[in-house]
Amino acid sequence: MPSLQELIHAFEQEINAFIPANAADLEQYRIRFLGAKGAVKQLAAEMKSVPPEGRKEAGMMLNAFKQLAESRYEEHSLVFNSGADSGPALDISLPGVPVPAGTRHPLRVVENQIVSIFEKIGFSVATGPEIEDDWHNFTSLNMPENHTARDMQDTFYISQNPDWVLRTHTSSVQARILETQPLPVRVICPGRVYRNETISARAHCFFHQFEGLYVDKGVSFADLKQTLYYFVTEMFGPDTKVRFRPSYFPFTEPSAEMDISCTVCGGSGCNLCKHSGWVEILGCGMVHPNLLRNFGIDPEVYTGFAFGLGVERITQIKFAVNDLRLYSQNDVRFLRQFQGL
Ligand code: PHE
Repeated sequence: MPSLQELIHAFEQEINAFIPANAADLEQYRIRFLGAKGAVKQLAAEMKSVPPEGRKEAGMMLNAFKQLAESRYEEHSLVFNSGADSGPALDISLPGVPVPAGTRHPLRVVENQIVSIFEKIGFSVATGPEIEDDWHNFTSLNMPENHTARDMQDTFYISQNPDWVLRTHTSSVQARILETQPLPVRVICPGRVYRNETISARAHCFFHQFEGLYVDKGVSFADLKQTLYYFVTEMFGPDTKVRFRPSYFPFTEPSAEMDISCTVCGGSGCNLCKHSGWVEILGCGMVHPNLLRNFGIDPEVYTGFAFGLGVERITQIKFAVNDLRLYSQNDVRFLRQFQGL
């Protein structure tokens, strides 16, 4: 007669090899191993013939076997209805468990809109590095060392190399484009920029800009105005008014700041426009001749315009976001509001 151990071993091999083709197969398995006259019951009956000193060990073996027989049965039952012959219990035609989709970040939404507006009038997209050298961020842009204009953009220097900075503006990409691309150039350059500011609702140590640059023969201030006017009417609607105020940037001459009529109050005065009816959205001007010379371009032949706008600012106006910190806190209650955009 085979020993209890041999019997168990034989049943285990049978269980491991068993793959049910349908629910009826699985029912056969249940009867054979777990039924009233099945293997588990049969083995339990055999326990009587085991001498008392071997019972403990035999009991443990029997228990392990029972667990194997039951767990295999449960695994197979996930696929087949036990007992019934009604086909698979798992309906593989049901849709899966939905994975929650994220939302596009509001700054990315606005960035995409800006790109598509400028693409329509022939601008292409260019990017540059966020860790920049002094030449591209300052010196080549007519801001030599000790130039007081550097004060406007308090900078993070990289300690291993004092020549490297986290770029303070995307104008550094202007420099890289003029250095490498054949003329004419017509580009917009989106990117993150850094300034050493105390973080508050109105300032952050990093933010996002768009640089625009157009250099060709015969580019004039009228082209600059028309281009920017087209941009704001596409972005904020056809009734948007613009005004230009004289300003100063070392890399443009003449320079201006552009305001748009307040989109919230339409000009009558509110918190967004600080009761002036106008909101400032960008800096701009004609590319300074020194800049062109720095890159071997003859300013008597070529002229150009440039502008720089803040993406957070445009987003604030478009979606009435009143605290800059919200953009980087990753709070889904904020981000969810931009679903579907
Ligand atoms: N780089 C300027 C700034 O960050 C903006 C600017 C860009 C102004 C291009 C004029 C021309 O403040």
